[in-house]
Amino acid sequence: VSKKIGVGVIGAGRIGRLHTENLAHCIPEARLVAVSDVASEAAQKCAADFGIPTVEKDYHALLANKEIDAVLICSSTDTHAQIMMDAAAKGKHIFCEKPIALDLPTIDKALEAVRKAGVKLQIGFNRRFDANNLRIRKLVQEGAVGDVHILRISSRDPGPPPMAYVKVSGGIFCDMTIHDFDTARYLVGSEVEEVFTLAAVRVDPEIGAAGDLDTAIVTLRFANGVIGAIDNSRKAVYGYDQRAEVFGSKGMVQAENLTPTATKVSGSEGVTADKPLFFFLERYMDSYCLEMREFITCLQEGTEPKATGYDGRVSVQIAKAARLSYDKKRPVKVSEIS
Ligand SMILES: NC(=O)c1ccc[n+]([C@@H]2O[C@H](COP(=O)([O-])OP(=O)(O)OC[C@H]3O[C@@H](n4cnc5c(N)ncnc54)[C@H](O)[C@@H]3O)[C@@H](O)[C@H]2O)c1
Repeated sequence: VSKKIGVGVIGAGRIGRLHTENLAHCIPEARLVAVSDVASEAAQKCAADFGIPTVEKDYHALLANKEIDAVLICSSTDTHAQIMMDAAAKGKHIFCEKPIALDLPTIDKALEAVRKAGVKLQIGFNRRFDANNLRIRKLVQEGAVGDVHILRISSRDPGPPPMAYVKVSGGIFCDMTIHDFDTARYLVGSEVEEVFTLAAVRVDPEIGAAGDLDTAIVTLRFANGVIGAIDNSRKAVYGYDQRAEVFGSKGMVQAENLTPTATKVSGSEGVTADKPLFFFLERYMDSYCLEMREFITCLQEGTEPKATGYDGRVSVQIAKAARLSYDKKRPVKVSEIS
């Protein structure tokens, strides 16, 4: 029997609590050792709720703890790269939420520190573990749709995040579409070479005032010739809309939204069904659990994670190309971003 993996959680906000809960309840191979948050109350509440013995305000103290084999970096985006370098220097394995950072030189520095330290790194691209996406990928790989011609992803949030979040998020492409860029590469099995973006502020002028966008269509050209389109909105009134489609010479595979129940009500005025599951915590619950299980398994068995530092880097590169395309009103090669 392998020894339990000692885990430290850095950042006890929305996503940090979710991963902690999954580790506490579904992954007996892990042991929660410590939690750190600059907001002491958040860390204390997380520790109390999930039975974590140690609380640190400063993550450096957590990194010094010898019982910790691996850390989860779940703090705000602008802190990920520095914490990654510090954790690598202490020989800790790392699970880091997306995005690693908002520029490639910073990401490259952090990835170099990870490589030098020889620790494992998994990026929080949970959608790779979603049952719909796993099935589409498998069917595409098996040739069920023949030669792939078109990829389509619709990804729309039920409502925009608070303005305070928007301002530090890095913008819609680095914050939201980043998941879709990663999913697109994952489903098609090829790299994105070029993007062309049309985008707008259609939901909330405040988002525009902060320099961001809330509505976008990003078209993609892949190295293997496939063309694709991702459409995003920060506000779909009917709920979290997450659909994907791969079309090819032999047919098409589509993934529809998941709903709380599969019931339909028919009446004289029409037919109604459930709205999609509310938001990412509900819709992707299973995938968060599976990604964390994969991380712990990789550490126990010495295997490589499915969502790597390279994947984390490329997704930011594509996101920045998408923004540049919007700014310049022209197609942008992903290789233009360095
Ligand atoms: N993979 C996903 O589906 C997904 C979903 C949500 C968020 N995220 C990512 O996770 C990160 C956190 O997002 P969130 O929604 O949980 O935000 P949040 O604001 O709810 O939580 C972030 C927490 O980190 C803490 N923090 C900030 N700096 C810190 C530091 N130096 N040391 C320790 N703690 C620190 C904050 O006090 C806060 O409690 C973001 O980078 C976001 O992009 C990923």
